[in-house]
Amino acid sequence: MYLYLAILAVVVVFLLLKVHISRMKGVCRSEADLTGKTAVVTGATRGIGYEVALDLARRNARLIIACLNIDEGNRVMEAIQKLAGNKNIVLKQVDLASLSSVRKLAGEITEEESRVDILVNVAGVAGLPRRETEDKLEQTFAINFYGPFLLTNLLLDKLKKAAPSRIVNVTSIAHQWGAIDFDNLRGDKWFLMPRSYFDSKLAIILATREMGRQLKEAGVIVNCCHPGSVNTSFLDNMPFFVRMFTTPIGLLFWRTPREGAQTPIHLAVSEDVKDITGEYFSECKLDKPAKQALDDVVARKLVEASEKLVGLQ
Ligand SMILES: NC(=O)c1ccc[n+]([C@@H]2O[C@H](COP(=O)([O-])OP(=O)(O)OC[C@H]3O[C@@H](n4cnc5c(N)ncnc54)[C@H](OP(=O)(O)O)[C@@H]3O)[C@@H](O)[C@H]2O)c1
Ligand SMILES: *[C@@H]1O[C@H](CO)[C@@H](O)[C@H](O)[C@H]1NC(C)=O
Ligand SMILES: *[C@@H]1O[C@H](CO)[C@@H](O)[C@H](O)[C@H]1NC(C)=O
Repeated sequence: MYLYLAILAVVVVFLLLKVHISRMKGVCRSEADLTGKTAVVTGATRGIGYEVALDLARRNARLIIACLNIDEGNRVMEAIQKLAGNKNIVLKQVDLASLSSVRKLAGEITEEESRVDILVNVAGVAGLPRRETEDKLEQTFAINFYGPFLLTNLLLDKLKKAAPSRIVNVTSIAHQWGAIDFDNLRGDKWFLMPRSYFDSKLAIILATREMGRQLKEAGVIVNCCHPGSVNTSFLDNMPFFVRMFTTPIGLLFWRTPREGAQTPIHLAVSEDVKDITGEYFSECKLDKPAKQALDDVVARKLVEASEKLVGLQ
């Protein structure tokens, strides 16, 4: 008898917690239509990026999906065309770990597209081992930061011409454990996996703030966000103690990719954000990042150093 009561109590507490947690999740309520606008999304083959791309396609945007694996990309493009009833989708290949591949993509978009209104940088990796890229950069930092940084900068002219336009960068709450080591920007002095991820996510916020300031006049709205803890293949390379949460206990913490896509979608389309730039969001609301992300001196220095590293200066 007591055993049944105890089990019942545990179930009730679990359900109450779940309801409480799901009520805290931000939802994008905007009904904005994107007819006539062009959006570029990276990382659209799965997870959060897929849901962002699908949502923008449903809003009738012309969609450019930039993906690593072209076969996966084709499958996803057909799925989105069907689900969204939108044929206006272009598939592009890019390896964000390669600066020449990023340049090629930006060149093609610049040449072929008459405008770019929205750029959503979603693609990202974690848990990978150390590998030096062809540009002599550490791969996690290159994929998460330098590649998207270069892509964004090369598309800026298009974005400025389409103003008011938007850039959305997906970062992570894990930036709070990061720090920028200016002696190790190529990751050649030392390497520690979680740090490379944390530092790259911190770099995204710093660059968003710095560029947000620079782009204000031009009418390009730039923001970044933490999507929440999302159950995606992103977890595959994570240590067991993180993956463990994908068991039933994890049901409390992990959200679905569609839920995880809400804040990036909000930043890409909502009228509520049209006058806010250079900021960090979570749950579709303004949020305050960790204090190392608010250091304007580090931000400026990082952007300048990164421009040199990716060959923009
Ligand atoms: N999941 C979370 O809990 C969480 C929390 C905080 C922040 N985030 C951030 O959210 C973003 C998306 O994560 P997710 O959870 O949706 O992960 P995911 O399901 O693993 O998706 C990652 C995407 O990035 C693409 N990608 C990986 N390497 C690439 C490369 N070299 N060039 C081009 N594209 C590449 C992948 O393409 P392929 O499919 O072809 O490999 C895939 O589409 C990441 O930036 C991540 O840091 C996630
Ligand atoms: C994020 O946003 C700003 C846009 O101003 C951009 O310059 C930066 O490179 C973007 N991407 C990353 C990965 O930081
Ligand atoms: C996470 O996603 C996988 C694959 O889609 C699914 O099998 C699993 O039940 C999910 N776990 C949680 C906690 O949502």
